[in-house]
Amino acid sequence: MRDRALGSRNTRVSTHASAARAQVWRAALTSAALALAACLVTGLVTGPAFAADAPAAAPPAANAPGPHYAPLSNGLAQTPPMGWITWLQFAEDINEPLILQTIDAMVANGMRDAGYVYVNLDDGWQRYKGERSKHPLEFDPVKFPHGIKYLADYAHSKGMKLGIYSGPGESTCAGYTGSAGHEVQDAAMFASWGIDHLKYDSCCSHKDAPQPVVEGVFRTMSKALIATKRPIVLNACHCGWVNTWEWAAGVGANHWRIGQDISDDFDYPGNREKYYFDVLDLIDRGVGLEKYAGPGHWNDYDMLIVGLDGKSPWLVGAGASNVEYRTHFSMWSMLDSPLLVGADVRHLDADSLETLTNKEIIALNQDALGKPATRVRDDGLVQVFAKELSDGSWAVALLNRGSATADVTIAPRKDLQLEWDRYGVRDLWKHKDMGPYDIPFTTEVISHEARILRLWKAPEPAAGKSASAAVPGAAAGQAPGAAPLVAERTSDH
Ligand code: GAL
Repeated sequence: MRDRALGSRNTRVSTHASAARAQVWRAALTSAALALAACLVTGLVTGPAFAADAPAAAPPAANAPGPHYAPLSNGLAQTPPMGWITWLQFAEDINEPLILQTIDAMVANGMRDAGYVYVNLDDGWQRYKGERSKHPLEFDPVKFPHGIKYLADYAHSKGMKLGIYSGPGESTCAGYTGSAGHEVQDAAMFASWGIDHLKYDSCCSHKDAPQPVVEGVFRTMSKALIATKRPIVLNACHCGWVNTWEWAAGVGANHWRIGQDISDDFDYPGNREKYYFDVLDLIDRGVGLEKYAGPGHWNDYDMLIVGLDGKSPWLVGAGASNVEYRTHFSMWSMLDSPLLVGADVRHLDADSLETLTNKEIIALNQDALGKPATRVRDDGLVQVFAKELSDGSWAVALLNRGSATADVTIAPRKDLQLEWDRYGVRDLWKHKDMGPYDIPFTTEVISHEARILRLWKAPEPAAGKSASAAVPGAAAGQAPGAAPLVAERTSDH
C-alpha cells in the first residue's frame, strides 16, 4: 500500500490532462500554489501553530501502554456525515445565492430526505488572503453579504446543517487566512454563527510536519470546538499523511482523509498530475484501515465525484460513466466513508440523482453497527468486499476492476465464514430479491461495476413446504416468493 505523499500540487505536471484544462486548473490554483510555496519558503511549518498543544517530548514508542493524551470525543457522527460541499465543482467561486439555492434544491430533489443534511463551505469563504498574523479571519462581505450566520439560520430552518472550513496554518491551501494561534477565538466564532461541521485542513500548511505536531494542531482545535459546547463535527483533513487514521479518533476527529485529493476519474493510470487519487486508488488505499473506523470516527475517502462528468472548471479528471459513478458511490457506502456530494446539485441529471438517493445503498453507509466493509477476496481484477450489518444480514460488493464482463461467485460459508445453510440474496441496485439458495451464487458483473448484494440467513423450510426467505430491514415491503434451491446465474443487465 502506498504511504505518505506522492507529490504535491505546486510541483504537479499536466502531461496527461488536456492542455486547456491544465491551463484553467493552473490559473485557479496559482494563488494556492503561491501560498503553499510561500509557506514552505518562509519555514512557516515551524511557526507558532506547531507549538500549539503538541507534546513537549518525543511521542512514546508505538507499543507504549496507554494513550499519549486522554482521548477527546465530541460524541457526534455516530454514522458517517452526509451532505454537500462546495470545493469540487466551485472551488473559490462561491457565494450566498449558491448556498441558498443548493439548500432549496436538496430539499426539492429529495436529497435532504435521503439523509444529505450538511451543506458545507470549503475554502474561499474568507475575506482576506495572506497570513493570519497580518489579517483577521472574517467572511467575505461581497460573496456573503448577510454573513455566515444567515446561511446557518436558513439551513436550520430547512432541517439542514451548515459546515465551514479553516486550517491550523497561517494560511489555507487556497491562500486565505487560517486559524493559527486563534483556535479558541475561531471556534467560538463558528459556534456563534451556528456552524455544525468544520473541515480543518492541514494539507498545505503542515505538509511536511511530523506526526506529533500534526496531531497537536488537530487536538488544539478539537478542544476549542468542544469547549464551545455546540455540537460541531470535526473533519481532520491531512491528505492521509502521517498515518492520520492511527491517531485522529483520539483527538476527537469524526472523520479524516485517508489520501490525497480525489480527481474526477475512476481508473487513471498512475496518479493524475502526480498527485490525485482516482476511485480505485482510494479503495486500495483504504484496505486494512477499516479497523480504525466505527461510530463517531470514520475513514474519509474524500468527496463524491458522482455527477461531475468531467465538467468541473476547477477539478482535473475526464469524468466517469454512470456505472463507474455507481460503483464509486456503492463502495464509499460499503466502506462507511462520509458521503459529501461535490457536484452542482441544482442541476443533477436523472442518473446521478438516482445513484445518490438509492436508499438501500445509503442504508449500508448509515447502518447502526458502523462496521466498514473489509476486502475478503482479491482475485486480481475481481475483488469481494463484505460488510456486517446490524440486523444480522451482510452486504457484499462484487467489484470488477477489469475491462471485460466477469462471472463472480459468492459463497457465504467460504467467503464470509457464515454457518448458513440457506440464504436469500437481494440486489440493491435492481431492488430485487432472489433465492433462497443452498449453494454458491454466481452472477455477471460488467466492467467497472460493483454488484451490491445483501445476504441474509433463510429459515429452513417447514416439512413438506417450500420456504421463502425472510427479508432484511432495508428490503422490507418486497417479500421474495418461494424459489428453487439452485444457484442462479443472472445475466439480466
Ligand atoms: C486541499 C483539500 C481540498 C480542499 C482544498 C481547499 O488541501 O485537500 O479538499 O479543501 O484544500 O483549498
